[in-house]
Amino acid sequence: MNILVTGGVGFIGSHTALILLQAGHNVVVLDNLCNSSVETLNRVSQLIGRKPVFVQGDIRDCEMLDRLFLKHSVDAVLHFAGLKAVAESVAQPLRYYDNNVHGSQVLLQACADAGVFNFVFSSSATVYGEPAQMPISEACPVGQPTNPYGRSKLMVEEMLRDVAASDPRWRIAILRYFNPVGAHKSGLMGEDPNGIPNNLLPYIAQVAVGKLQQLAVFGDDYPTADGTGVRDYIHVMDLAEAHLRALEALYTRTGAHVWNLGTGRGYSVLEMVRSFEAASGKPVPYRIAPRRPGDIAACYADPAKAERELGWKAQRGLDEMMRDAWLWQSMNPDGFR
Ligand code: NAD
Ligand code: WQD
Repeated sequence: MNILVTGGVGFIGSHTALILLQAGHNVVVLDNLCNSSVETLNRVSQLIGRKPVFVQGDIRDCEMLDRLFLKHSVDAVLHFAGLKAVAESVAQPLRYYDNNVHGSQVLLQACADAGVFNFVFSSSATVYGEPAQMPISEACPVGQPTNPYGRSKLMVEEMLRDVAASDPRWRIAILRYFNPVGAHKSGLMGEDPNGIPNNLLPYIAQVAVGKLQQLAVFGDDYPTADGTGVRDYIHVMDLAEAHLRALEALYTRTGAHVWNLGTGRGYSVLEMVRSFEAASGKPVPYRIAPRRPGDIAACYADPAKAERELGWKAQRGLDEMMRDAWLWQSMNPDGFR
């Protein structure tokens, strides 16, 4: 297949582009590089001797999209492009709605105009808000996301359901990621956050490598086993593989379908610290800090629907996530720069 990967230079998109190429697909990556470096695609080529076609551009640019669809005969779109920093979305909500919601709308219109109806969207467990039950299955109602980033994901999901209902040609996969971590096992590709990381694992990794002094553990008084927040961390390569399975699942399905992508197992912040120390052999000093506004105590997936319908199950455990994250961090202390 010829697959357009928006945001394919970023963390999850680049690992997915690699897997798609390895599976024999042709890949066109569209990215405006607002949160990534093209060096990522050189690493893809270094690893597998093939590189996606790269188009530098913005998903909000409808004329560019029309040209792109005319030039490359695209069969399916994997839509990763988006802004994802929660705190930034609170400070700049209009930028988030413009980029993530308006951007997705422009992209969907260009797809429809070009007759491309196979579409996979990167959503997030954040759409469940404060979940009433745990683990979270797709049958749980979507809640009230606590920030504009989360609401932008929910709005795109709603748009996709409306679009699917309007025309039976659409085949849409909405993939709700839990907490993606880890890196390619070579250490050549991984997560390269701008500035000080917001997310736990990149922060821990930068403490371990000596770039940051100490981790702040946001709250130790949650109703969890050790009082710290529990999340379902999933290896980025498992996540990437799930996209292939989702594309295949769309061969036999029309309409919009939701799948959770998680492992089904939660780990606390302190468990993550200990596990990273074991994998890296480096100490990760931490202090207990106040809770971070908007955080919930625990969040982990019921991944049974993905296993049943996609034939996909996360294969990599916490040790592998930590080992690969550390290899990437220690080989590339300054990321791709
Ligand atoms: P990332 O920032 O590494 O990758 C996103 C890519 O999209 C970047 O390369 C960026 O340059 C590009 N981009 C952003 N806006 C664009 C635009 N308007 N036009 C073209 N390119 C644009 O992020 P990631 O972690 O790889 O996340 C990928 C997707 O998965 C995002 O949609 C994100 O919201 C979603 N997601 C991420 C997580 C996570 O924790 N990483 C969790 C759930 C969902
Ligand atoms: C994990 C745990 C923190 C940093 C966010 C987004 C979500 C999704 C994934 C995109 C929590 C604790 C963290 C730190 C800490 N992204 N923590 N010290 O909050 O589950 O989800 O990223 O869709 O939308 O909200 O992930 O990695 O930020 O935090 O103690 O310096 O680590 O309180 O318990 P989160 P996270």
